[in-house]
Amino acid sequence: MSGTKTPSRRKFLQGAAIVSIVVAGGVVYRGVDRGAFTNSQGPAYEPWKEWRSAQQGTPLALVQSAILAANPHNTQPWMFLVGEDSIEVYADEQRNLGSFDPYLREMHLGLGCAIENMLVAAPSHGFGVALSVDRGILEPLKGPGELRRVASLDLVPNPPRLTDLYARDLYSVIPKRHTNRGSYRARDIDPAALERLLLAMDNFGEVRLDIWKRGEEQREVFDRLTLEATEQIIADKEMAHDSDAWFRFTPEKVQQFRDGPTLEAAGMNPALLAIAKMLPPVSAEQSHAVWLANTRDRVPASPIVGTLSVRDLYDCQQTIEAGRAWQHMHLLATTLGIAMQPINQAIEVVDREGRVGNEPHMTGKLAQLLATDQWRPTFAFRMGYPVFAALPSPRRALDDVFRETRLET
Ligand SMILES: Cc1cc2nc3c(=O)[nH]c(=O)nc-3n(C[C@H](O)[C@H](O)[C@H](O)COP(=O)(O)O)c2cc1C
Repeated sequence: MSGTKTPSRRKFLQGAAIVSIVVAGGVVYRGVDRGAFTNSQGPAYEPWKEWRSAQQGTPLALVQSAILAANPHNTQPWMFLVGEDSIEVYADEQRNLGSFDPYLREMHLGLGCAIENMLVAAPSHGFGVALSVDRGILEPLKGPGELRRVASLDLVPNPPRLTDLYARDLYSVIPKRHTNRGSYRARDIDPAALERLLLAMDNFGEVRLDIWKRGEEQREVFDRLTLEATEQIIADKEMAHDSDAWFRFTPEKVQQFRDGPTLEAAGMNPALLAIAKMLPPVSAEQSHAVWLANTRDRVPASPIVGTLSVRDLYDCQQTIEAGRAWQHMHLLATTLGIAMQPINQAIEVVDREGRVGNEPHMTGKLAQLLATDQWRPTFAFRMGYPVFAALPSPRRALDDVFRETRLET
């Protein structure tokens, strides 16, 4: 058998190589302690495994899906008031991103994502849903923030129907959808798969989808604006600080807070991730440098980039619908083996320009990109076939994000 590379031998050799690199670098390693060779372990990752454990066919089962939705910086800015046949969705405004999301626009996109997961899950639990989203205009917080209702779902019994099969497919990938920040393959997106993604967006009437393929006119503009915005954010001390505050770069912090972006979700290749876990936590400067380099390399290399736009950038209902559209597209992409990553820097700069009263440079550049100022991009992303599968990010426990009685607001 000597010389044959069985999977376990190969695994061992990979491990040995990593350890020797770390030793060669003069670093004292505690790989096993730091979880270098195991990912997504511990209570912070349980919600991904328990996602079906709440009593089937109850409203709580829908909330269990909601908490696995995409959301900005993994802030999980939600609270759910669960009744026998209703769910009210609240923004937990205290879980905000400060100057990084000054109008809570991204927060509301994330709430839209959570709502979409519940709508997708509903047929599998025998529910029909009447969704009602509260009207409102997104505004900067005046105080520390409170719990504020944004939507309600009225649930009615709904016997399974053939037309629910599509929703069932999406439902089955709820725990498999993860933001993939890694490199994507050079291979173009299969045209039939792309067609399905585009068609699915027709269900979101308030949202416009634009995409740019490599080599197309305007594609280079999108890539450049995203890089330019990344540089601006890094140079803006307040924005960088408010974003960094949510990063959880040690296993202890991940388990303590169960939120925020993590090393495991950073899109490193598995060998590099194991090494990174053994090293001391990276500084803010190092993490900004990696973010900038990845934006410079990975955005232009992605087969497709795109934006979701709305007519009024700060309208609550339109923002929530755009969030729903993103979650839906990401779930559908997951069924098709396509990876996705939001890349929202340019729009974050638009918010910042508005909030501090700077000239709306980025606003103008995005209007040129879309060739209209009637639609405002509210979400930007890239997609492609993944080189490596993405890992899950932590989630707070179900018990911490729902109440069964009326909330005091
Ligand atoms: C409104 C919104 C904005 C986001 N912006 C970015 C972004 O600019 N870059 C990025 O890498 N991820 C972005 N994300 C992805 C979140 O960070 C991610 O959903 C969250 O960390 C949870 O991880 P998961 O999607 O893998 O479950 C965004 C998500 C939402 C909903």
